Amino acid sequence: MTTLLLEANNLTKHYPVSQGFLKPKALARALDGVSFTLQAGRTLAVVGESGCGKSTLARQVTMIETPTAGDLRIAGVEIANADKATRKKVRPLVQMVFQNPYASLNPRKKVGTMLEEPLVINTTFSKAERAEKAQAMMAKVGLRPEFYSRYPHMFSGGQRQRIAIARALMLDPKVIVADEPVSALDVSIQAQVLNLMMDLQQSSGVSYLFISHNLAVVEHIANDVLVMYLGKVVEHGTKERVFSKPLHPYTRALFASTPRIDPAQRQQRIMLPGELPSPLAPPPGCPFNTRCPHAVERCVREVPALREVDGRMVACHRAEEIA
Ligand SMILES: Nc1ncnc2c1ncn2[C@@H]1O[C@H](COP(=O)(O)OP(=O)(O)OP(=O)(O)O)[C@@H](O)[C@H]1O
Ligand SMILES: [Mg+2]
Repeated sequence: MTTLLLEANNLTKHYPVSQGFLKPKALARALDGVSFTLQAGRTLAVVGESGCGKSTLARQVTMIETPTAGDLRIAGVEIANADKATRKKVRPLVQMVFQNPYASLNPRKKVGTMLEEPLVINTTFSKAERAEKAQAMMAKVGLRPEFYSRYPHMFSGGQRQRIAIARALMLDPKVIVADEPVSALDVSIQAQVLNLMMDLQQSSGVSYLFISHNLAVVEHIANDVLVMYLGKVVEHGTKERVFSKPLHPYTRALFASTPRIDPAQRQQRIMLPGELPSPLAPPPGCPFNTRCPHAVERCVREVPALREVDGRMVACHRAEEIA
């Protein structure tokens, strides 16, 4: 049996942006009608250039923000249009791990205190029970027991990220949203943290919404891949399908621009030729038409629907010809 933990339908987030004094506000279409599902125990990687809406998606799923439109089910409960009480009840089910473990951990709090904090807020465990749970979690993520009473400044980046992962797991969440969780770490440490995340998934059944610009990392950890461009999904399918035969011209350009073999190059951010249009004024028709080598007149006229081609979802009028 598969359990749907996340179900996004037409999820949309528009930010009003000031254009200057007395000028009407413009809308940044950061997230523009995104639909996907995430099943228990699986990892969905979200990839795309800077500004395509990855972190905006993360902020809707972790309920840091409320979407402008669309709906989002978390463990079967619709939360995009829900009241405060419902959102509060669902919130512990989704936890977040941030990119920078130097900024995300409070320097004035000991490791044990940080791990126990979610339990203080959300449970009725006694002090002794909380300590026991924190220490058990530390063992699970490979932190030595004596770290319990140390401060974050004593730790390396990799150890700090282990602490952040441990804290995210304390309330036994269904989903962890990880926004570039290893990109601030040394390359030599990245694989260790990724492998830890995969082990923890095996033992706990947690799902990951895993945001990354690094295709080597995505290939390592993902079951499914969601490729975004200007706030829209352009391709979505299993890692095997998408990596072995990307169909959307944007996905193909991403793969072509980021070699996955050379470790020095694969650290770089995604850089494609041509200018990324502003989310304040996306082009009519297909959002990628201004940079697409396959664009024809129809691509400027008509927004391509996300539809199934060759075993995955793709939003391109010419996907069959490209396949
Ligand atoms: N609070 C906000 N107000 C106005 N515009 C915003 C806001 N937050 C994000 N945006 C805009 O929305 C778009 C998507 O931003 P987002 O941070 O989600 O991109 P991203 O894919 O996470 O990029 P990166 O890879 O650089 O982290 C960008 O154009 C950004 O400028
Ligand atoms: Mg981001």
